[in-house]
Parts: sequence; structure tokens; C-alpha cells
Amino acid sequence: MDISVHLAAESQRKRRPADDSSLGFGKIFSDHMFLMEYSNGPGWHNARVVPYGPLSLDPAAMVLHYGQEIFEGLKAYRGAGESICLFRPRMNFERLNRSAARLCMPEIPPDDQIEAVSALVRADRDWIPSSRGTSLYIRPVVMATEPALGVRPAAEYLYFIIAGPVGNYYSRGFDPVRILVEQRFVRAARGGVGEAKTGGNYAASLLAAKKAKEKGYDQVLWLDAGRLEYVEEVGTMNIFFVMDDELVTPPLTGSILPGVTRDSVLRLAREWGWKVSERPIGIEEVRKAAADGSMREVFGTGTAAVISPVGSLSYKGEEITIGGGRMGEVAGKLYAEITGIQYGEVPDRYGWVHKVA
Ligand code: COI
Repeated sequence: MDISVHLAAESQRKRRPADDSSLGFGKIFSDHMFLMEYSNGPGWHNARVVPYGPLSLDPAAMVLHYGQEIFEGLKAYRGAGESICLFRPRMNFERLNRSAARLCMPEIPPDDQIEAVSALVRADRDWIPSSRGTSLYIRPVVMATEPALGVRPAAEYLYFIIAGPVGNYYSRGFDPVRILVEQRFVRAARGGVGEAKTGGNYAASLLAAKKAKEKGYDQVLWLDAGRLEYVEEVGTMNIFFVMDDELVTPPLTGSILPGVTRDSVLRLAREWGWKVSERPIGIEEVRKAAADGSMREVFGTGTAAVISPVGSLSYKGEEITIGGGRMGEVAGKLYAEITGIQYGEVPDRYGWVHKVA
């Protein structure tokens, strides 16, 4: 792929905050962005890195009306010897293409997407923070730009990538989160778009999360859309349980996002010889295991937070405390291994690290 690069003039450039501890998540954006257009016939064209700035969009652009949009999230890290690395980028870009197929959007060869991200990261390399726990968060998006109001797949699209330095996703860092088991709203139904990374899933989650926050919880636990019986996800993350000596996560049956961190946790745990199950897990089973003491840990996994321990679950008015409200041993070991690989401190046995510069 040919990518033209137009760097921002020195006078146009912003300055990365000097203090990494105040970064938060998704509030600051770097100096450049990647853009590329699609139209039926020529396909993807005009790949370029340009100064970050507003997009110009026709008000009839189909994304604004029918939500034909997909996105990804991945991170660039400053690894050993000042090298710059991405973590399993191909998994993100293969998932983007599965999301594209589900929403009738054109796919983009994963190698081209890796080239695009690499070009942007190289242009904004000074924006990658270096302290442990920080990274450059990268957000690729595809959206329908054709101006038309008929309900059908668009004929024109924009692929853009923006990036910005991030610290912790949750402002409370690793303090275990308080979760409300959602009894009314659902995130996604089997056969719907739950396994695609599309903005609509996140829009659908907002009301339940808002109501949970009003009651003093950090996030909700999503149950299946059929009978509200089986656990699906926690907030915007995949969920894991440690029960006795078994690590359990719900199987990918269509309504759950196939997370990159989820896959990494499963792979590591299996390599370490742990008993690992991808099986349906009912909320009643969770309640019983917490009551009889066999539930040792619950944690969420995602690119943004990596591992996020759950300290308590509120279910039908009952507060279920997990693991004494601390980060558990299993979550801690997985967090150390995954972030160790990401920062180049632990050998990359699985070829997960992709060097950009
Ligand atoms: C993640 O956990 O990485 C997510 O996908 C959440 C993101 C939408 C901020």
C-alpha cells in the first residue's frame, strides 16, 4: 500500500503532557491521523497520514443515520531498548474484517492495516508515553460516508485511525470494581451484532451503566438476552471466574465480543497447565460458588484496562463479595505476564509482539 505522509508543521504541534500520571483514558489525541477512502470500483484508495483535525462529513452520510460503523482498539508500547511495539495487531484487524462482513462493509487486508497503524505510530512516536502502565491507544474506525437515506449498505466509506497517550482506563486504577448484575437491559442478543465491534453495542449499553453508576456501582454484568440466566460480559469487557481450580469464561456463541486479551488469557492459562473452560456459566452458579467459598476470583479483560478485578456483585439485592475485595493471585499473575510481554520485559514466546520501530 502507498501511504503519503504530510507531517504537521512544528508550529501546529501540540505537546504531550509531561506528567504520565494524569493521562487517564481517551482524552488526549496525538498530532496526526491516518485516512483512506473507499468507493465501489476503485476500492480503498488515497491512504495518507495527515495532521489531526476535524473530518468533513455530508449530513446525509449513512453512518449518521443507520449506524454503519465499526472500530478497533489496540495499543503501542515503548518496549526494551526504546523499540516501539504493537500487541497482536493482526487479531484486531482480522476482527475488524469480521465486524465489516457482519455490517456489510468492505474489508481491508490486515497487512495494509498494520502498515497504516505503523505509519501513524512512527509519525507520532514522541507521543508514546514510557512509564509502566501507559501506552499509545490506537483507534481505527470504518464508517459509511455515502450521502443517501435508503436503508442499504453504503457505496462509500472512510477508514481513519487516531491515537493518543493513555494511562489507566478506570480512574481508581486496580481497585476491584463494584458490579451490578443487570436484570432488565441486555447488551446483545444471539444473532445480533454483539460479536461485532460496532458503536451501536456501546450506545445500547449506556443506560444500564448510567443507572448502575447512579446507584453507586462501577459497571454492570450483562446476562444473556434470552432468559437472563447466563453471564455474558462485564461492562465493556469479557469476564472470567476462578472457581476452585477452574478458570471459566463464557463461550463465544455470537453475542460476546471475541476479545484479544480474552484470547491471550486463555492461551497463557492453557500453556501453564491450568484447568480452563469456555462454557456457559449461570448467574445462579456464580451466586452459589460465592456463597460456599469456591469462587476465588472474578475479573474482566479488555485492551483498555487489560485485567480489571471485580470486588463485588450485586444480584437481586444481595451483595456478593469476591476475594476480599483485592486483586486476586490469578488475575495478578495474568496481568504481570501480559503486560510483561507488552513492555518487552518477559520473553515473547507466542509471537505476539509486532515491532514497528
Ligand atoms: C476495551 O476494553 O478495550 C474496550 O473495548 C473498551 C473500549 C471501548 C474503551
